[in-house]
Amino acid sequence: MTHDIPIAIELSLPYLDGDKFGAVRKVYTPAKDGVEAAIWQLAKAYIAMNDSGVPQLISHWLNTHAVIEPFIIASNRQLSVFHEINKHLHPHFRDTMNINAAARNLLINSEGIQYS
Ligand SMILES: [Fe+2]
Repeated sequence: MTHDIPIAIELSLPYLDGDKFGAVRKVYTPAKDGVEAAIWQLAKAYIAMNDSGVPQLISHWLNTHAVIEPFIIASNRQLSVFHEINKHLHPHFRDTMNINAAARNLLINSEGIQYS
């Protein structure tokens, strides 16, 4: 097993005055001692945290939940409720649009996770 060793990490935040001004970027590099070493560990933790979101956002949300929405909408608009394909698909599509709407509102909105 090989491990990729980062040589630098660039992190960015939007300007406090708004996204229209771009981002505030900072590059962190490896350090072994002092505050810089702690900051380097935090930068690596930040990257690891973001990497852990890929399976959730890409594999789960995008490639399962979001990708099926056009098929649900098209089926509802174009196929009769008596159409055999619609009868076959309907149970598989059940609840997906509601779940996706809830996910957009609660989990992946621009304000972050909304706890109720
Ligand atoms: Fe899911």
